[in-house]
Amino acid sequence: MSAVARDMAPEPHDFRKAMGSFAAGVTVVTVCHDGRLVGTTVSAFSSVSMDPPLVMVCLKRDSRTLAALGQARTFCVNILASDQGDLAHRFARSGADDRFALTAVKAGVCGAPLLSGAVAAVECELHAAHDGGDHEILVGRVLRVVVDEAKAPLVYVRGGFLTI
Ligand SMILES: Cc1cc2nc3c(=O)[nH]c(=O)nc-3n(C[C@H](O)[C@H](O)[C@H](O)COP(=O)(O)O)c2cc1C
Repeated sequence: MSAVARDMAPEPHDFRKAMGSFAAGVTVVTVCHDGRLVGTTVSAFSSVSMDPPLVMVCLKRDSRTLAALGQARTFCVNILASDQGDLAHRFARSGADDRFALTAVKAGVCGAPLLSGAVAAVECELHAAHDGGDHEILVGRVLRVVVDEAKAPLVYVRGGFLTI
């Protein structure tokens, strides 16, 4: 790290506030590992490349979903609909083992579950993993997408949900 970067690091509170101003969609990243369904709420999701089709998600290093994804090496990014704010909260609750209780699921092409009622599902195999500080940056190669254009997406900004 350069001396400038060390001296100029923002206060965590200010950094959070700035990043929270960036409106993002809300996803649930799901994995099936050893027959067990695992998943968590993720807003750090982006497309990376069209050819080949690549996307990325960032997961905290202590995430249980990250541990399962590293083993399964396949995952599904479920982009939530405007009426799925309760699911976003449920899949973010620390230590909750009943995260899938609120939703029906079906198995995708790679085994990872697709949540019913989502705006879109992006099914991936793990392509690369990169160091992202206290998060891991996971790049997925997209195997299949399922889209429901009739649904409006859920948006997360400044700590709350919006619908568009
Ligand atoms: C709207 C929202 C967005 C979130 N985005 C992320 C994210 O991008 N990456 C992440 O690691 N955690 C994110 N979280 C927090 C995780 O969902 C939460 O820490 C969860 O308990 C982790 O579960 P796990 O350890 O079972 O994977 C988000 C939570 C909410 C409510």
